[in-house]
Amino acid sequence: MGSQTLREARKYEEASEKMITAQERPDFHLSARTGWMNDPNGFSYHDGKYHLFYQYHPYDSHWGPMHWGHAVSQDLLHWQYLPAALAPDEAYDRDGCFSGSALTLPDGRQLLMYTGVLTLRQQDGSSGPVQAQCLAVGDGTDYEKYGKNPVLDAADLPAGANVSDFRDPKMWRKEDGTYRCVVGNRPADGSGQILLYTSPDGFAWRFQKVFAANENRFGKMWECPDFFVLDGKGVLLVSPQDMLPQGFEYHNGNGTLCLIGEYDGQTDTFTEESDQSIDYGIDFYAPQTVLTPDGRRVMIGWMQNWDTCDFRSQNVHWFGQMSLPRELSVRSGRLYQRPVRELDALRCNKVEYKGVSFTDTIRLDGVKGRKADMELTLRPKDGEDIYQKFAVRFAQNETYQTSLSFRPREGVLKVDRKFSGSRRAIIHQRRCLVRDPGCRRGELKLRMILDRFSVEVFVNDGEQVLTATLYTEQEAEGISFFADGAVCMDVVKYDLG
Ligand code: FRU
Repeated sequence: MGSQTLREARKYEEASEKMITAQERPDFHLSARTGWMNDPNGFSYHDGKYHLFYQYHPYDSHWGPMHWGHAVSQDLLHWQYLPAALAPDEAYDRDGCFSGSALTLPDGRQLLMYTGVLTLRQQDGSSGPVQAQCLAVGDGTDYEKYGKNPVLDAADLPAGANVSDFRDPKMWRKEDGTYRCVVGNRPADGSGQILLYTSPDGFAWRFQKVFAANENRFGKMWECPDFFVLDGKGVLLVSPQDMLPQGFEYHNGNGTLCLIGEYDGQTDTFTEESDQSIDYGIDFYAPQTVLTPDGRRVMIGWMQNWDTCDFRSQNVHWFGQMSLPRELSVRSGRLYQRPVRELDALRCNKVEYKGVSFTDTIRLDGVKGRKADMELTLRPKDGEDIYQKFAVRFAQNETYQTSLSFRPREGVLKVDRKFSGSRRAIIHQRRCLVRDPGCRRGELKLRMILDRFSVEVFVNDGEQVLTATLYTEQEAEGISFFADGAVCMDVVKYDLG
């Protein structure tokens, strides 16, 4: 079954994953089975399980010819690897099977849609990729590429659209049984646009309209679109390349963008009303969502940043991990995220402190660890002025620490991984402006999830999220708290295991 290229990849991954011990990986975040992982692909619920595919180069811990890795899970936290699903083995995807999506067809088969990449060398010596959308159909483990691939190519682009940047189809089925997909593209203005295609059956696709246009407002090319309706609003997620910073909202480089607006399902018209970053930390990109059987919209992202991929453990045979799956909701025109509720089942060894007041550095008995779920509720100590600064330092020993610090007077929350084992001059810090006005009075709620190599911080019940990877040695497991001024804090901390 499958091509020689796919069979080789499957043989290779099976042998080489044995060189990676469980302790070298995150525990409940999916990491590359072996080699390199980027974007989540085909996040779907099929045949009683969640399926998560990913951009995958099994042979090296650096990006290379893209395959699709594959894993399944019952609870979105414990993943079982399945054999690689796709390999670049056809004339139209020779240079990579790029990102895409999955759904279940009415006959029970699973349909994958991905971008086939072919780099064409011109006679003048130049070369450029040609990107086209392709299909594969399978039983949840083995997939066969569709005989009529590619199903969307240069002929299906509107005027001025660039065929070198035409990728990452996200498809869904509408209530009337027809299909839609959104695809990222670069129009003539050099920035990004999202194209909408329609299909009666998932196989024959036709261009419908430009669904959303960047017009050079948020970075350039928009990668990895996802669109869904949530809490009565249309939500478009994209990952812009080449961002310029805007205040504390958007940062340089590859970013994440959530547009919320009105959606008219009759005409498939999306009208933007507001924009925001999806994640305010360092490592989060290319998110994709699934609708769970019980109706939750759950998002997972690549917990990495294209510009800081050099920050990694040495001599480890895997690189790249996914974020925690996050339940989404829309409130007052903003996207909220919270860790999937399945995480609650992993909590153990509860430690709780109420009303701890401090004016310097403190440690609390039982509060330490690198696999933890910790909720902190902060306020100024009664009768005292608003404190200048609060910090929680974790992944800490004599040499290392990662910190999350908050200055209520500025409303600024900062994650800092400078002392987290990095030997590269990369981005180590990121700041965000806390939105809730209570923060200016020194009131703040933080929920931090640690899983060996990462921290995800959910601010004020998920109104904002900051994510960062850290590769500090695991022995650095201390947690301490610092106040400049007088802070009063409640702590609820669990180990996750
Ligand atoms: C985003 C991305 C996608 C592309 C894939 C290639 O991280 O650049 O646009 O499909 O990665 O691996």
